Amino acid sequence: MEMCSDCCLLFSLIMLLLLTRVHTSQVHLSNENGLKTAVFLSPKFELEPGSVAEKFFHNIDFPRGHIAVKSFDAEVVDEAGNPVPLHETYLHHWIAMRYYQPKAVGNSNSSSNQRSEKSDYVVIKNNGICDDHLPQYFGLGSETRKTVTFVPDPYGIEVGNPREIPAGYEEGWILNLHAIDTRGAKDKLGCTECRCDLYNVTRDEEGNALGPDYVGGMRCCFDGTKCRIKEGFKSVKRSLFMKYTVKYVDWDNSILPAKIYVLDVTAGWKGSNRSQELSGYNCQVEYQIDSCSTTAAHDGCNHTKSASIALPTGGEVIYGVAHQHTGGLGSTLYGEDGRVICSSVPIYGGGMEPGNETGYIVGMSACYPQPGSIKISNGESLTLVSNYSNAQMHTGVMGLFYLLVADQPAQSPNSAPYGSVNKHKETRLSYYVWVAILFQAAVVVALVITHQRRCRKAGYESIAT
Ligand SMILES: *[C@@H]1O[C@H](CO)[C@@H](O)[C@H](O)[C@H]1NC(C)=O
Ligand SMILES: *[C@@H]1O[C@H](CO)[C@@H](O)[C@H](O)[C@H]1NC(C)=O
Ligand SMILES: *[C@@H]1O[C@H](CO)[C@@H](O)[C@H](O)[C@H]1NC(C)=O
Ligand SMILES: *[C@@H]1O[C@H](CO)[C@@H](O)[C@H](O)[C@H]1NC(C)=O
Ligand SMILES: *[C@@H]1O[C@H](CO)[C@@H](O)[C@H](O)[C@H]1NC(C)=O
Ligand SMILES: *[C@@H]1O[C@H](CO)[C@@H](O)[C@H](O)[C@H]1NC(C)=O
Repeated sequence: MEMCSDCCLLFSLIMLLLLTRVHTSQVHLSNENGLKTAVFLSPKFELEPGSVAEKFFHNIDFPRGHIAVKSFDAEVVDEAGNPVPLHETYLHHWIAMRYYQPKAVGNSNSSSNQRSEKSDYVVIKNNGICDDHLPQYFGLGSETRKTVTFVPDPYGIEVGNPREIPAGYEEGWILNLHAIDTRGAKDKLGCTECRCDLYNVTRDEEGNALGPDYVGGMRCCFDGTKCRIKEGFKSVKRSLFMKYTVKYVDWDNSILPAKIYVLDVTAGWKGSNRSQELSGYNCQVEYQIDSCSTTAAHDGCNHTKSASIALPTGGEVIYGVAHQHTGGLGSTLYGEDGRVICSSVPIYGGGMEPGNETGYIVGMSACYPQPGSIKISNGESLTLVSNYSNAQMHTGVMGLFYLLVADQPAQSPNSAPYGSVNKHKETRLSYYVWVAILFQAAVVVALVITHQRRCRKAGYESIAT
């Protein structure tokens, strides 16, 4: 009996360890009042000092079924699950794209790294406005840790509607991520801004020569390129993952669908063919800002870029957030009459730890207008403004704006504004932690009891034999 209780203790300790491991590795799911949370890890990618990973992971794990996505948050973690700071691994961007694929290829490898989709894949673009670029449903960059992405009630981003998926097809998700290892870099900012000289790149990934005017940008920091590092700097290759958290609810008719628009300050109207309105903008995605010391007239070294954009169909604005790179000072979307639709400003870090890295944009403020207060009319001409400091030059900067618009106004006037969303999240988190702990404790107790019974039985048997 003595020996047996020892073995039982050992057994339960092992079980506890196993449970903790399961809890902290792959996926976990929780559910509170119908709001479900799923946490996933992307396939592994490897980086060493100076190197760049740009991956396209097909058919990633994602909640299945007819659901409304409420938020999509992400961060880069190492093999032990620890968050990796931006000054080691700079997260240039990640985007999640939705697509339909024939059911037969549904269980193909998710770790392939192919830029061109198979012809069977049909990417389901967001509502626009760019022609070929920016088709994503979700996406952010270095600011991902401190940007609130929650879609306020009663709205949601509808996916997996079986009536929309063509017969013989199923829905899938592609994760594109672009990360740069700047450990030991000679010029960390230059590496994150993809300066061609630092990468010693003169041709893009397709082999096309880059003109002398192309000083930096994504065409110089594609997968496998290497940024210059300090002489003699040694550090190991490491394996990384993108950890992403999707919050969602099962679809029901009380949820109002939100449309996604991704606006770009480099958008230029391609022509006046009104029947092509939805795909009528040519978006460069990136732009370059010369230093104010080299430009004749400068305005306190504040660089302003703007674009005029019309959404074919308007609606009620329920969420907005800009995407900018280092140097960004903020971005504002104005209506035709000059009213502010949404203004989003960067949050810069002030320390060393993940989520607070000095010199990096670690978050962008998001807009949660009072329900019904901000409307865009059909075809209204909007002005997007993106400001940067040009005290020094910047290459490959962006001025994107992610906007959620709903057709119908909310029935109830008390949808969750920004503040209450945050509170909501916190109480949920601690709740989940408690549920997890209690669940583990209950399982361990149950296992100990059953095992003790078995141990006793085994004990009697051993006496009997
Ligand atoms: C998945 O990848 C493994 C290893 O690269 C390969 O052996 C296997 O055939 C792949 N499976 C499919 C369905 O492509
Ligand atoms: C840069 O590229 C050129 C030509 O591709 C090569 O000759 C040179 O050695 C490279 N320089 C460095 C520092 O890698
Ligand atoms: C406008 O676009 C539509 C749809 O692509 C096309 O059928 C039509 O010919 C275009 N009209 C002109 C004048 O280019
Ligand atoms: C430039 O931008 C900064 C930060 O937004 C602001 O404090 C400053 O007043 C601006 N300068 C001018 C001349 O607009
Ligand atoms: C952008 O800069 C312009 C001109 O300096 C200024 O009027 C505007 O308030 C700035 N907007 C933001 C969001 O910084
Ligand atoms: C960021 O780090 C600085 C320096 O340690 C600290 O003063 C500041 O409070 C931190 N900010 C946040 C939001 O944690």
